[in-house]
Amino acid sequence: MPFRLGELFCGPGGIALGAITARVVADGKEYTISHEWANDYDKDTCETYRLNICPDRPESVICKDVRKLKIETLSPIDAFAFGFPCNDFSVVGEQKGIDGVYGPLYEYGVKALKHFRPQWFLAENVGGLRNANEGRAFDLILEELCDAGYNIYPHLYKFEEYGIPQARHRIIIVGIRHDLPVQFRVPKAPHITRTCRDALENPPIPADATNNELTAQAPQVVERLRYIGPGENAFTADLPEHLRLNVRGAKISQIYKRLDPNKPAYTITGSGGGGTHVYHWEEHRALTNRERARLQTFPDSYTFVGSKESVRKQIGMALPPDGARIIFEAILKSFAGVSYESEPTSFPVRLYESRLVLEGREA
Ligand SMILES: C[S@@+](CC[C@H](N)C(=O)[O-])C[C@H]1O[C@@H](n2cnc3c(N)ncnc32)[C@H](O)[C@@H]1O
Repeated sequence: MPFRLGELFCGPGGIALGAITARVVADGKEYTISHEWANDYDKDTCETYRLNICPDRPESVICKDVRKLKIETLSPIDAFAFGFPCNDFSVVGEQKGIDGVYGPLYEYGVKALKHFRPQWFLAENVGGLRNANEGRAFDLILEELCDAGYNIYPHLYKFEEYGIPQARHRIIIVGIRHDLPVQFRVPKAPHITRTCRDALENPPIPADATNNELTAQAPQVVERLRYIGPGENAFTADLPEHLRLNVRGAKISQIYKRLDPNKPAYTITGSGGGGTHVYHWEEHRALTNRERARLQTFPDSYTFVGSKESVRKQIGMALPPDGARIIFEAILKSFAGVSYESEPTSFPVRLYESRLVLEGREA
């Protein structure tokens, strides 16, 4: 019997694809995860999820604001995932954390855990969560997840260390219901590097690939890119006066940044205006959405629904499915009693029995 997965803030299905493709076989028994239901409030995002994850049960994706979702009407689940919105925790934003509009949305995940009591869960957020509200937000979230009845295993995953062709750092908290005799360990990063050139060219993107339209680049952008070398951005490159950008501040290092073909890509994001679309190392242009999807490890068969900008946003918000699958398979192995190589969690935590969370930070 697969673990039936319910998902809040499901996005275009990065977590879901990782989940439904995860598989572990032990003692002749198969451990898998199946989609049960999902929720997101963005229409295009829900259509993308339906099309790729559950085309036979489109009604299992409930497209509405989580604040209006009646979770008691949803079917039972054995596993739960929620990549709660990161807008208030990201280092790119103002970091209002739990005081922001998006911050408190994680509460709906806690509510679902208390209602369904799934055997395990996976929660995801940006690395910036650690520092939001001077660290209080992170402590509070971990504490509430423990109090919901789970042993928790948070870790800062650096996906480029797991062979994902993109530097993407995400805090992922795995929780195992505290009455179960199962302990999760963070799967060991193999430190295999996949370059962005390899991801985009091997194999080449087929001519008929979806979501692969080029952006009509303004002549000035093309001219600027001519002066920017691989791995450089608009501030590190030697630009003539008339092409320089009049922008100040410290958080601009990705503006007109070209990829370095010999390294994993820098983080693909879903928002931002001119100069933030991720630029090819050689051609004078931004990447197409299909190229971004490749750096996020979505297969070419995964079609995204919506306008170019909507698709860019969806891709930029997702967890790389291949990265998610590595973690899901570690969870399945933990349940199957199969050993695997592991590494210490970046945040040593006590188990559920302790109400207090981070080692050395007890009151
Ligand atoms: C970080 S993305 C999740 C990505 C997903 N985990 C994946 O791997 O594809 C967060 C999602 O939360 C959704 N969201 C934000 N606020 C919401 C709300 N109030 N109700 C429902 N969904 C919301 C956004 O539309 C977005 O798709």
